[in-house]
Amino acid sequence: MNNLKTTAINNRRYLGNKYRLLPFIKQVVSDHCNDINVIADLFAGTGAVSSAFQDHEIITNDILYSNYVSNLAWFSPEEYSEEKIISLIESYNAKKVKKDNYMSETFGDTFFSKDDCRKIGFIREDIEERYNKKVINERERALLITSLLYAMDKIAKTCGHYDAYRKGVEFDLHLELSVPKASHCNNPQNQCYNEDINTLAPNIQADLVYLDPPYNSRQYCDAYHVLENVARWQKPKVIGVARKMDRTALKSAYCTKDATIAFADLITKINARYILLSYNNMENKGNDRSNAKLADEDILRILNNKGRVQVFEENYKAFTTGKSDIKDNAERLFLCICE
Ligand SMILES: C[S@@+](CC[C@H](N)C(=O)[O-])C[C@H]1O[C@@H](n2cnc3c(N)ncnc32)[C@H](O)[C@@H]1O
Repeated sequence: MNNLKTTAINNRRYLGNKYRLLPFIKQVVSDHCNDINVIADLFAGTGAVSSAFQDHEIITNDILYSNYVSNLAWFSPEEYSEEKIISLIESYNAKKVKKDNYMSETFGDTFFSKDDCRKIGFIREDIEERYNKKVINERERALLITSLLYAMDKIAKTCGHYDAYRKGVEFDLHLELSVPKASHCNNPQNQCYNEDINTLAPNIQADLVYLDPPYNSRQYCDAYHVLENVARWQKPKVIGVARKMDRTALKSAYCTKDATIAFADLITKINARYILLSYNNMENKGNDRSNAKLADEDILRILNNKGRVQVFEENYKAFTTGKSDIKDNAERLFLCICE
């Protein structure tokens, strides 16, 4: 290939990303689940867990459109032209954009420099125009948007995520898109969805449903609003210092006091032989914001109503949204063999 960089599914920062837990998850599935053909990853996030099961038929889902688009890029069975992607990315990287657009007017000199914002806005608009003119197909559109989102993430001057930007810092890194290393031989039955999980679940049939809900009150649509805004490209009005769009429709019940009700409803709706749930043990160990929304006794009660439950544990890095110093944080897998 030319001098373009490539990017892989885990080359981004994402809260609660399970990339490092894949050996543990795969081990539990291979040791305790039989005859698995279809795996549904219904809080898919980056798609890291699905990527460990690419030799299976995969169903992904996430409430955020930005994740849906990336999941399409990585897992859609639609064929794509690598030459087309490479040539467009080369031309985007070489482009100098002088004219202002939605991105530079909305986010200029916040998370990104004004120049980089002009470039992000230009690229995103160009992707949409090419798609509307049918010059690129849906998978190629998804690959280009994913490349753009990953490149933005590499240079964003955030305080961790997009809740706030770092004022007065030098914009030392500049936008450089890489080519996503996406498979050309995904399973032809793979499907990707962008729905609230409780609405989608009754329509899904899988051998194993993997669930990785948010753990605490931190809404993903707040932490990733800039990426979501660019992925959707509806150019909404934004408010506040962090320039957030209206995210009412993207709020998750799993980050609220209704998490237990939502979880109980979800489990009754699932059609699968196995349910595998990731949930760490932060129930009451962090600060208020990092405390888990589902209590262990509720998880066990709800899963026990659905089948036979086993719990597996592996030590994993602390997951806090504040400054509390937590020891003994463990990532657990609850396996329910449905009856
Ligand atoms: C812990 S993260 C998943 C991380 C993922 N396993 C990974 O490795 O990248 C939880 C995900 O659930 C999504 N989510 C939250 N509430 C949802 C809902 N009601 N329906 C669908 N997805 C939801 C969030 O957008 C977020 O991406």
